[in-house]
Amino acid sequence: MGNSVELIKKYLQPIYVETGCSAGDGILKASEAGAELLFGIEPNTEVHFTCLKKTKHLNFHHFDGTSERHINTVVLEIDKKNERAIFFLDAHKVGCCKGETYPLKYELAAIRKARRKDHIVMIDDVRLFGMELPDTKEEVEERLRKINVGYKIVCENSDTNEKDILVAYL
Ligand SMILES: C[S@@+](CC[C@H](N)C(=O)[O-])C[C@H]1O[C@@H](n2cnc3c(N)ncnc32)[C@H](O)[C@@H]1O
Repeated sequence: MGNSVELIKKYLQPIYVETGCSAGDGILKASEAGAELLFGIEPNTEVHFTCLKKTKHLNFHHFDGTSERHINTVVLEIDKKNERAIFFLDAHKVGCCKGETYPLKYELAAIRKARRKDHIVMIDDVRLFGMELPDTKEEVEERLRKINVGYKIVCENSDTNEKDILVAYL
């Protein structure tokens, strides 16, 4: 269901991005783990206020809308810093609002265009691959290896499900 402070610490980078950041719980965990610059993308306007309220003390940039609309901008901002990031990709339909899609292929295409090829990519909800989430695990791994053929790919526990977060790292 979501990321954990322990997992973010294990792969910690100065920058953390969460797509589908919802009410900001993952952003708070990333800050607690030690990430310094935080980005979140979320189209559900009902959770914006809560998210902004919870994160107002953080160096957090909130993008109101879909990943399809904003992910390239976030990648360009990270390119300017030339620091490594964790991308936690958790944007998908939960049936709550307009504008929901499953934008993983756009997100991975944007990360592929990033200047650095050593970002950590985490993708949540492996158990739903090829079912509620349209991409199969094999398709996702193939796209990750187009970003960097050297990526090692493992599955880590989420805060609620075993081996449910795919992690690509070097
Ligand atoms: C499973 S929830 C995310 C939970 C959150 N990451 C957490 O751990 O607390 C999926 C989120 O993706 C959002 N979402 C749906 N389509 C999206 C899109 N195209 N771009 C970005 N977010 C999207 C939904 O509104 C929802 O908040």
